[in-house]
Amino acid sequence: MYQAKGFALTAVPSFPIRTDGQMITPGELSSGFACPLDILRQLNSLFAVLVCHHAHWEPRRPLKIVIISDIHGNLAALNALPEHNFDELWCIGDLVDYGPNPHEAVEWVRQQTKLTVRGNHDHAAGFSVDPQCSAPFKKLAEDTLRFTRAVCTEEDLDYLRSLPVRQELIGRSTHFYLVHAMPSDPLFGYCPKESERWKQEAAEIHADVLIVGHSHTPFVRQEGKVTILNPGSLGQPKTGRPLACYAVWEDGRISLKEYEYPVEEAIRGIRRLPIPPNEQDALIGLLQTGSLPID
Ligand SMILES: [Fe+2]
Repeated sequence: MYQAKGFALTAVPSFPIRTDGQMITPGELSSGFACPLDILRQLNSLFAVLVCHHAHWEPRRPLKIVIISDIHGNLAALNALPEHNFDELWCIGDLVDYGPNPHEAVEWVRQQTKLTVRGNHDHAAGFSVDPQCSAPFKKLAEDTLRFTRAVCTEEDLDYLRSLPVRQELIGRSTHFYLVHAMPSDPLFGYCPKESERWKQEAAEIHADVLIVGHSHTPFVRQEGKVTILNPGSLGQPKTGRPLACYAVWEDGRISLKEYEYPVEEAIRGIRRLPIPPNEQDALIGLLQTGSLPID
């Protein structure tokens, strides 16, 4: 596994590369993922394939990518993620704030994901700045940010600071562009799923699939040649349902998914947060209903 911290993956070589350490099959020789950190390791695998397996042809299996976003310290939802067999796990940012387990969420993401981009809350925690939330969330974000910074280790905060704000890479001939909010304003821009602004955002990038988070509402829409995917929020969904959201990309097929998780466990954690009871109620109501019960 790799964490491509700080690497710009725009210039992806047409290299026969896999990042999971498995042998390259002949059917995959023009596909797979590329990352500078993997090139030497994968060259070794390629050599082994060419020398030892020239007559052993295997059918190409689908490449499965699980995409999560906006975890917000909800470890109960993370631990219940119902996906165990996949090639890659990507995270579109906002690991921390609002939820009771920011440190554990950072550790989980560091260990489990191959690609992660920085969200506005990761940026705020890492650099101790304003996450620039909308009015109903401003005070909640401010108060939980203090808690987040208190319980995260220096290593956690370093990690959040080190996350890239965008990632681009090519896999199976598909050019992916990952950013937390939107390409023109990767950390803070707010663009709801029905906004006409997505047309312009899509027109200004070179990619087949643009993956975003931030709005906590899942959607897929097509703008010209660009498919825009928002997997929704795993830890604080705003769908009107108390179900954690994520998405799966499998050789071009996109599925938006939801699952039940032990919400009560997350609620117990929120009750222990050092924030006023009305703010705890708001965060709990959000998890229970999938919508904000305050003005
Ligand atoms: Fe978020």
